[in-house]
Amino acid sequence: MLTTESLVEFEQMKMFIDGEWKDAENTNTISVVNPSTGKTIGQIPNGGRSETRNAIEAAERAFKMWSNLTANERGDYLLKLRDLMHDNKQQLAEIMSMEMGKPFSEGQGEVVYAASFLAWFAEEGRRIYGETIPASSTNKRLIVTRQPVGVVAAITPWNFPLAMMTRKLGPALAAGCTGIVKPAKQSPISALAFAKLAELAGIPKGVINVVTGESGPIADEIFENKTVRKISFTGSTEIGKLLVSKSAAQLKRLSLELGGHAPFIVFEDADLELAATGAVASKYRNTGQTCVCANRVYVHRSVMERFSEILIQKVKELKVGNSLESGVQVGPLVSKEGLSKVEEHVKDALEKGARLLCGGRRMDGELADGNFYEPTVLTDVNRTMLVTREETFGPVAPLIPFDSEEEVLSEANDTDYGLAAYFYTENLSRAIRVSEALEFGIIGMNDAVPAVPQAPFGGMKESGIGREGGHQGLDEYLEDKFISLSFQTKK
Ligand code: SIN
Repeated sequence: MLTTESLVEFEQMKMFIDGEWKDAENTNTISVVNPSTGKTIGQIPNGGRSETRNAIEAAERAFKMWSNLTANERGDYLLKLRDLMHDNKQQLAEIMSMEMGKPFSEGQGEVVYAASFLAWFAEEGRRIYGETIPASSTNKRLIVTRQPVGVVAAITPWNFPLAMMTRKLGPALAAGCTGIVKPAKQSPISALAFAKLAELAGIPKGVINVVTGESGPIADEIFENKTVRKISFTGSTEIGKLLVSKSAAQLKRLSLELGGHAPFIVFEDADLELAATGAVASKYRNTGQTCVCANRVYVHRSVMERFSEILIQKVKELKVGNSLESGVQVGPLVSKEGLSKVEEHVKDALEKGARLLCGGRRMDGELADGNFYEPTVLTDVNRTMLVTREETFGPVAPLIPFDSEEEVLSEANDTDYGLAAYFYTENLSRAIRVSEALEFGIIGMNDAVPAVPQAPFGGMKESGIGREGGHQGLDEYLEDKFISLSFQTKK
């Protein structure tokens, strides 16, 4: 077993505001619980409106200086922070494992993934080009410049505590914005460790602030404070809709990366071994708790039996256990509520006629104190069952048979969500038809893990607004300013 002590002091964790480490004014704290063991690992300050206001004011004071740096100077800070993340990969991964249950090796992968957003946006920031537009008269020049939107707030989720933060802060800082981060209360320690690295990287005070605590008061201050010009949120569609209405009062810019309900389609001409490996990667990574996890696995009836056999074999080989233990591939669910939802979905499916191919129960024995659920595969699933209507957010793969391309496309698109979709085929014509017909922002074609910093990530329909990553991710933090310049052509 590994322990982590030096990046954060678990006994006495503090928020990072205006370059200083602070308690909540009321000295209240919130416990952070390790979902592998059920034990409290530390207390974070329960900050509220006043601390959030202080952080916003600090970001406002830092904005003038930070936005006046050259893109190269800002990029160099980001690259330094990237290097520090790499240097502290082990500790950052341990923290993630302990606070939200990500298997350690997956946590290491997330550190590298998170750091790659800093590198990508450090470079993209050097390419924030404006435009000159041909004028309608000879005595005019038309110029478009791009300026940072100002102070921004990043409200980040517990399932990717580091990567979702850098996917927002990377472009914000590269564009010249300053801001505050409100991490999820289940996984705030990663954000505090990241703030420590920002301090070590010499990023000037006030540029990055981290406020921990209950969401309500912090979000109220963020949405009501006029200094905040843009908010980026990753979380549920339900909260996303609430934030849209909150943002209306001041027409704040919003980016929303919300829920998904990804179809994973295995056509009869797929490479079944590849498809089963992909299904395991997509479904069970992060214990099924990603917005882009396969949630509905459609398999052509003619290959259902063979595909199920290969899949079950692979799922049974997955090692479940305490996230910090070496070799563990599937950790606990983040919370008791998450675990209950998985149980409810499986129970509902079985009551309505689904069959269990493997798994199907909460784990006991030495894992009984954690939120563990066996990696599960269900078959004979149909659209009356909760598993096909809602995001399960857990390690359950429901297999649904289909007979034609037309039928499966109509089923796959029959959802209010539109984040990610996957399909496996070796047929080129089908590959083009299906990738164009799926109504989702991200398509994995024979690819179960498509997200990379250089490509846009985001959803259609109720899965969100805006894109993160890619050059598009930077646009979200920039204002286009049109300057019409009239001058005298002759003296
Ligand atoms: C998410 O679940 O929203 C993030 C997944 C990823 O970036 O791969």
